[in-house]
Amino acid sequence: MSTPAATPTWRLVEPPRADRLDAPEAWAYHGIAALERAVALADLGHDDFAPRAVDLLVADRHQEHARRHRLVAVAGGEGDGPAPRVVGHGVLTLPVSDNRHLAEVRVAVLPEHRGRGIGSAVADRLRRIALTEGRTTVFAEVELADEPAPGSPVALAPREGPGLVSAALPGMRFARRAGLGLEIVARRSVLDVPLPDDVVERFAADAAARAGDAYRLHTWQDRMPEAWVEQLAALEHSLSEDEPNGGLALEAEQWDGARIRVEEAKRAERGQTLLVTAAEHAPTGTLVGMTILEWADDRPELTEQESTVVLPGHRGHRLGMLLKAVNLREHTRLRPAARRISTWNNETNAPMLAINVALGFRPAGGAAELQAPLADVVPLSRG
Ligand SMILES: CC(C)(COP(=O)(O)OP(=O)(O)OC[C@H]1O[C@@H](n2cnc3c(N)ncnc32)[C@H](O)[C@@H]1OP(=O)(O)O)[C@@H](O)C(=O)NCCC(=O)NCCS
Repeated sequence: MSTPAATPTWRLVEPPRADRLDAPEAWAYHGIAALERAVALADLGHDDFAPRAVDLLVADRHQEHARRHRLVAVAGGEGDGPAPRVVGHGVLTLPVSDNRHLAEVRVAVLPEHRGRGIGSAVADRLRRIALTEGRTTVFAEVELADEPAPGSPVALAPREGPGLVSAALPGMRFARRAGLGLEIVARRSVLDVPLPDDVVERFAADAAARAGDAYRLHTWQDRMPEAWVEQLAALEHSLSEDEPNGGLALEAEQWDGARIRVEEAKRAERGQTLLVTAAEHAPTGTLVGMTILEWADDRPELTEQESTVVLPGHRGHRLGMLLKAVNLREHTRLRPAARRISTWNNETNAPMLAINVALGFRPAGGAAELQAPLADVVPLSRG
């Protein structure tokens, strides 16, 4: 006599898209946010990057430049009982303005629900969607709390650049079983703030002396000045073109003023503030560099360092350091209670890392950047 197969205690559903967090159908955004926070605390020891419910809602509302397919694995929630509990989350991000070959995959499962095939079922469904959408390259990221010791039997080196990743991490086992390869390692760095005023002044003054009189700096919050919005788009394009990404199959992003405005709207809807310092080349009146800090008021201790770029013809004048030091000085004035600034750099990006290390940023974990041709990605579900 054969034993009947155990009934799975979870099922996959496409979450409803709510437009407000207090709507009943927003259960999925609240559930995914709780899951991502629990996964981050368990795997990384902090939730600095875990998306809040509002981040998920705004990402789904704005699909102008990337479309999104979300799935959740839920337990319970049938009939008239309480809302379903989200135990697994998957999202497939499909760029549409550029990089139309890419499918970026994220899968996360609550630690106490792992090893039951939930992650595999989510990944397989997303893989089928990516195939239907005609995508050809898959990207995935596995976040790391730290690096394994060199020489450790589980230490895995990327195809390019420094950094090591433990092959024993659940996310790495999972991604490699699916056929993805480790291209590069991204470093997360943290700067403890506020820096003493005289330290920031010295960085700013030394860099200003090297930059000379040809550059004028401008600092503002939130909305990009209308006169510069197209030039800021050109800077974003340049950043995507020049950032060293190892062998990741990334093409330059197509930016224009309208895309800058979409990003601004998303930040405002997420309740985030932006602080920008840009460098104008005075003789020509063009913007040649910028740096952005960003924060949300419900995370009072944390600020994120976003894009920093200097156009190729203007590098070597310490503008990168000057922009960052001036923006940091303004950040201290606006946000004296912040305690850390967090940033990401590919380990292959030596020039940007050098500036961050000089400012005092210290390594604080990172991410494994994985990719594979979609045709080589193997289904994971058993049976
Ligand atoms: C990676 C992650 C999503 C996997 O979720 P999961 O639900 O445990 O995935 P699965 O259960 O399908 O597979 C995990 C393991 O269980 C095994 N497994 C799969 N189905 C199983 C089943 N029905 N019964 C028992 N074990 C099973 C798999 O073979 C796999 O084993 P391995 O680690 O030796 O390769 C989860 O560990 C996680 O959330 N990690 C943090 C986020 C992350 O790194 N995501 C990956 C990047 S996209």
